[in-house]
Amino acid sequence: MRYIVTGGAGFIGSHIAEALSGKHEIVVIDDLSSGHCENLKGIDCEFVEGSITDLALLQETFAGADGVFHQAAIASVPRSVEDPLATHAVNLTGTLNVLIAARDCGVRKVVMASSAAVYGENPELPKREEMAPDLLSPYAAQKLSDEHYAAVFSKLYGLSTVCLRYFNVFGPRQDPSSPYSGVISIFGSRILEGEPITIHGDGGQTRDFVYVRDVVQANLRAMASDAEGVFNIARGEQTDLNTLARTMMQAAGKGVEIRYGPPRGGDIRHSLAEISRSREVLGWRPEYAIQTGLAETMRWI
Ligand code: UD1
Repeated sequence: MRYIVTGGAGFIGSHIAEALSGKHEIVVIDDLSSGHCENLKGIDCEFVEGSITDLALLQETFAGADGVFHQAAIASVPRSVEDPLATHAVNLTGTLNVLIAARDCGVRKVVMASSAAVYGENPELPKREEMAPDLLSPYAAQKLSDEHYAAVFSKLYGLSTVCLRYFNVFGPRQDPSSPYSGVISIFGSRILEGEPITIHGDGGQTRDFVYVRDVVQANLRAMASDAEGVFNIARGEQTDLNTLARTMMQAAGKGVEIRYGPPRGGDIRHSLAEISRSREVLGWRPEYAIQTGLAETMRWI
C-alpha cells in the first residue's frame, strides 16, 4: 500500500510513519514549521517538504496513494486565539485541500486528527461523540468544521473518512521546548533537569491522557476498517495533575519542588472520554497504562 502522512515529521505523524515503515510505501509531507527531520531518522519514507496549503503539491503527491493519515496542523489553541486567520489557513483550508486532493487522486480513505477541544466546557462527563460541541477557540471551530467537511466529502464524493478526536496525547518526540507543549513533556524535562515544576491551580484538574503508540494503533485500525465518522481517542481514565506529577517523579526516580501558581486562563477543570464507540466500531483499545507510557517518555527525554 502507498500511504501519505501529512505532518509526518511532527510528534504523532512521525510515530504513524514509523509504524508503517518497512511494511508499506510511505510519503511524508511536512513544512517543518513544528516538525523536525530528526523525527524521521531510521524511518523508510519519501519526504516532501511542503505545506498542506499548497493544493497543487498535494494533488501531485497523493497520486497513487491508497490512504492519507492527515496529522498536519497548527495544533495550538492559544496560537489560534492570537492568529485566527493563519491557523484557519492551515487547519481548515489545509484540511479542505487534503480532502480535495484525496478525492481527485481516488484515495480510498482519509483518517484525520480532530481534537477534544470541540467539547469545550460542556461539564457533562464522560464526553461522548454525540454530545453538543461547545466551541471556545478558533482552533475548536476549525477542527469541528474539518469534521463536517469530512462527512460532506464522504456523502458527496464517496471518499471514506474518519475523524479521531484526540484527548491529551503524550509520548516521545513531543517537543518540550515549545510554549504550547503538553504538560507531560514540560514536567518531564523539568524533572530530569532537577528544576521545579509549576502546577497551574490546585492540581485537582484532570485530563484523559493517552500514549502516542495507542493513538497510532487507533489510526491504523481506522484506516483498515470500513467505519466512518467521529471517534474519541483517549484511555477513558481521569488523572489529576497532582497524581501525574508524583507518578512522573517516581518514573524518573527523582523528586523536584512542586510550585502552585494561579490557574491558567481558559483551562477546563475536568476531561474524560467515553471510548466505547472506538472500542466497538474500530475494535481499538488503549494498551499502554499511563505509567508505562510515562516511563517510555522519560527515557526519551
Ligand atoms: C489539550 C491539548 C489541546 C486541546 C485541548 C482540548 C495538548 C498539549 N493540548 O489542552 O490541543 O485543544 O486539550 O481540551 O495536548 N499545566 C500545568 N503546568 C504546566 C503545563 C500545564 O499545571 O507547566 C496544566 C494546565 O493548566 C492544564 C493541564 O496541565 O490544566 C493540561 O495542560 P495541557 O497539557 O496544556 O493540555 P490541555 O490544556 O488539556
